Amino acid sequence: MRHLSVPSAQTQTWLDFCKSNGWLFSEAGVHPLEGGRKGIPLLDNAPIAGDSVWQGMPEVMVDGRVKGPSHWTQRLDEEIFKKMESEWPAAFEVQGDLQIVKIEPELQQFESNIAEAMLHQSPNIRVICADEGVQGDFRIRKLRVVQSRDGNESTLTRIKENGYSLWVDPSKVYFSIRLSTQRINTVTSAKNLSQRLGRGIVVCDPYAGVGPSMGALLAEDGLVSGYHVGDLNPQAVELLQMNIEHLVTKSSSSSFSPATIRCADATKWAMDNELVESCDLLLVNLPHDSISHLPELIPLLKKGDTTVLRGWAIIDKDEFESQKQLIIEAIEKTSAIIESVTIEEIKGFSSSKCFACFEVWLSRPI
Ligand SMILES: C[S@@+](CC[C@H](N)C(=O)[O-])C[C@H]1O[C@@H](n2cnc3c(N)ncnc32)[C@H](O)[C@@H]1O
Repeated sequence: MRHLSVPSAQTQTWLDFCKSNGWLFSEAGVHPLEGGRKGIPLLDNAPIAGDSVWQGMPEVMVDGRVKGPSHWTQRLDEEIFKKMESEWPAAFEVQGDLQIVKIEPELQQFESNIAEAMLHQSPNIRVICADEGVQGDFRIRKLRVVQSRDGNESTLTRIKENGYSLWVDPSKVYFSIRLSTQRINTVTSAKNLSQRLGRGIVVCDPYAGVGPSMGALLAEDGLVSGYHVGDLNPQAVELLQMNIEHLVTKSSSSSFSPATIRCADATKWAMDNELVESCDLLLVNLPHDSISHLPELIPLLKKGDTTVLRGWAIIDKDEFESQKQLIIEAIEKTSAIIESVTIEEIKGFSSSKCFACFEVWLSRPI
């Protein structure tokens, strides 16, 4: 059985992390490993070995200390299982207490069997949802509740990552736990910028979704002095408001200035006097359009000091250099002075495209 090998002192942290993401195989115990390390038992849906969410922790295969079936399909009636033996869903995603699974048309007749087996296998799961694809401008998933453990069919749930919690609702707003490492890297860049400036920084996150980047940034003592966050999707903004309110109460700082949350088109933000030239760190996360939106967004960065632009984009693998040039051109058109530009692939997106992160350190003359 798959186990994540972690230093003994970090066992509880990794147990909590795996549990809150639905990756912990809760019916197996922690396994003592050689060298005093501990093995955290993983479910099959946990990210593959080497994925960035594991932060370098290796995976090992050892016999699990299992008290029950190790896979949800073993909870299906044997006859039903055999009917579709190789067709059962191999993967699913967990967000909080929701389990989201693609059920192919030929399996829909068995969906209540699937849901029952999954609920039985994972005691922390409340609702099994069928994933019916992405829809609309905000690319939100169409979810259909197949079964609820306790009759509560709400898709509003709470996730934990890197020590903070966030309200999410995958039927209303985009959120991906897979980008948690990116958020840790954002904090590293923000700390470097804050150190350089010798003060807390103002962050603009105009495509904030439910606000995961702010979760990571606000968790750091004294790092953020103020923020402007928002999203164009009103349903995202409702959750963003709930999350920011909670994150602020958990923060060591009692006041932030500025501190605004808005439901607006990011490309129009710089027309607002309160927002133009307001931030030290600008986050741009609309991967299909991040680069083309840059000309409208750069004016949000302060003038006279070093600032950082950090964004995420889906890029054609053979257009890396030309996309980097587009970023540079967008910045140079504003007469800004570029100190450094990095662009790196984070993961594949399709056979020809990849998901990349870019970061630019720049200063805009007064
Ligand atoms: C890829 S998601 C990123 C969300 C969040 N930053 C995260 O990492 O989870 C992009 C977000 O941008 C929002 N959005 C799309 N177009 C927008 C626009 N023109 N202005 C502001 N937000 C927009 C979507 O509603 C969505 O929540």
